[in-house]
Amino acid sequence: LRGSRIIGFGHHQPSRILTNDELSTMVDTNDEWITTRTGIKTRHIAGPDDTVTSMAVEAGRAALADAGVDPSEVGLVVVASTTHEDRAPYTAGRVAAELGLSGRAAPIDINTACSGFEYAMGIADQAVRTGSADTALVIGSEKLSGIVDWSDRSTCVLVGDGAGAAVVGVSAEPQIGPVSWGSVPHLEQAVRVSGEPARFSQEGRSIYRWAITEAADHARAVVEAAGLSIEDIEVFAFHQANLRIIEPLVEALGGSPSYVVRDVVESGNTSAASVPLGLSKAWARGELPEGVPALLFGFGGGFAHAGQVVTT
Ligand code: ACO
Repeated sequence: LRGSRIIGFGHHQPSRILTNDELSTMVDTNDEWITTRTGIKTRHIAGPDDTVTSMAVEAGRAALADAGVDPSEVGLVVVASTTHEDRAPYTAGRVAAELGLSGRAAPIDINTACSGFEYAMGIADQAVRTGSADTALVIGSEKLSGIVDWSDRSTCVLVGDGAGAAVVGVSAEPQIGPVSWGSVPHLEQAVRVSGEPARFSQEGRSIYRWAITEAADHARAVVEAAGLSIEDIEVFAFHQANLRIIEPLVEALGGSPSYVVRDVVESGNTSAASVPLGLSKAWARGELPEGVPALLFGFGGGFAHAGQVVTT
């Protein structure tokens, strides 16, 4: 039986950086409130030319270059987003065309919000392991600035734009653990992007309570599904919603990871892009330990959660 593994990372963020101080001139907020409640200091905001597709293409191209893979070799492209631009054509098809992928590349969109990347990775892993594709491109891309109400201080301070990507290839041994996934029915309405125009809203307190009381059990289940214990995990890469969620989760899980992704501080909450963005930035900076088990865990709208242990 053949396995799969991550062979490259890439990311893209718009050049415009919005600071907490700048936000405080737009709505009634301040750096102190945002920092103590969320840990967020800056976020990148899309310009007129930045779209979910264009950012996905940039991140995907960078990941292919990092992996040393020619676009013609890609057999599957999965794009996760909460902010897909159109129902049709779907984002993955556009990304495939713009990246110059061949007609053999299957395009799939995923819309399980903030856990979308882990769902996409689960599908890519299974496709590569079973031989449906030899190389898969997995992307999370978000333009949350386009769905947030910029006069609502309770949500606009939280979000950012950007994209992260990983390339999955064949390996002799499985280096991507089984995806462990599920949902929380009583929180089904807790995160919404609805209305005309579509606007983001959330029940922040309910999500926070779930995240600090129940998320750790689901993250542990991901590690168990991989046949590992928490002490084996070297990297924690959780959905970057809020530092006030990430730190208790790290504490509740225990273990002794050598690297914890905290990119929410620089990038805000970028939903489906947050985990690959954080990993790719750490990789590009040379901060991500290589060849070690990393716990990926996403949660959000739906209310869906998913994760897997991957070798970096
Ligand atoms: N600046 C200043 N004051 C603010 C701001 C702001 N940006 N936003 C809200 N406030 C005020 C509120 O009006 C309220 O004032 P009041 O007490 O006079 O009514 C006060 O601050 C407290 O507001 P709460 O909404 O109760 O603040 P809370 O402590 O719950 O923090 C937060 C809000 C950070 C969103 C928190 O609920 C949280 O961390 N939730 C987790 C959910 C999350 O991260 N969601 C992200 C999207 S979904 C996902 O990714 C899974």
